[in-house]
Amino acid sequence: MKHLLSLESLSTREMEYLIDSAGALTQGRAHLEPHELAGQVWALIFNKSCTRTRVSFEVGIRELGGSPMFLSGHDMQLGRGEPVRDTARVLSSMVDGAIIRTYAQSDVEEFAHFGNLPTINALTDEEHPCQILADLQTIEERLGSWRGTRVVFLGDADCNVARSWMWAAARLDFDLVLSGPEAYLPPAGLREQIAEAGGRVTYETDARSAAEGADVLYTDVWVSMGKEEEGAERVEALRNHQINAALVARAKPGALVMHCLPAYREKEITEEVLENHAETIFTQAENRLHAQKAILLQLARAWQ
Ligand code: CP
Ligand code: NVA
Repeated sequence: MKHLLSLESLSTREMEYLIDSAGALTQGRAHLEPHELAGQVWALIFNKSCTRTRVSFEVGIRELGGSPMFLSGHDMQLGRGEPVRDTARVLSSMVDGAIIRTYAQSDVEEFAHFGNLPTINALTDEEHPCQILADLQTIEERLGSWRGTRVVFLGDADCNVARSWMWAAARLDFDLVLSGPEAYLPPAGLREQIAEAGGRVTYETDARSAAEGADVLYTDVWVSMGKEEEGAERVEALRNHQINAALVARAKPGALVMHCLPAYREKEITEEVLENHAETIFTQAENRLHAQKAILLQLARAWQ
């Protein structure tokens, strides 16, 4: 594994290895870490807002002995039209790795292609691979294993987080249910690709049927970054796919409620459910740090 550009591009073995390594890294923080990034500088190029991903990567890089360099895409020449491929070649001569949050998946792919350094997708419009690795680690911690579970994603079931869940299901042994109004379910072509890859994914327009027997109820914001103009329309369209107490009652007893955060209370999740499941949700956020370190270590070793 030379880059982490998507979950689509990972094999079953690579995914399992990263989830297991992230779990092992929860056992020790800075004082126990191998300083495998010593002397390295990793650039974080971000074109969208960010809290968890930026902080977890910056802290993770430091704990592994390296230095993070945060670069806001808007302040870079990239923001004035310098091509991604030129930026990639320049940075390759100066830094040891790049972590990119942006809109087009093709930009992250182009950067990896033209750069000569490990490149990580820190969220694009198409995928959020780092998030789902931490989520699977959290399920493993809380339920013993993600194997054989029924994970139900509710809301904008065609967003980046939902799509990364689909690719995880294509590689790993669990059942995924995507629940949303028809217009917010993934397109037929992608569904076929996932089915051909062996993913056990089903699609539901009725949230109550979807939640039945769930081991995990999962949601994400209804208005992803870049979709702000559709805000009111989305809130209206998605309101029957909110995680609330009535929906939780349909899941298995002891089911996890998860949210990648940031959360909008009384939109995709009620205040009551979020607070009742805060321990899981904030552990899920903390696990971003452990998962990022697992990814960084794996890439640093591959480029040694
Ligand atoms: N879940 C997540 O990626 O959060 P941030 O946008 O704050 O990084
Ligand atoms: N789907 C959300 C995820 C935020 C972490 C977005 O893209 O804004």
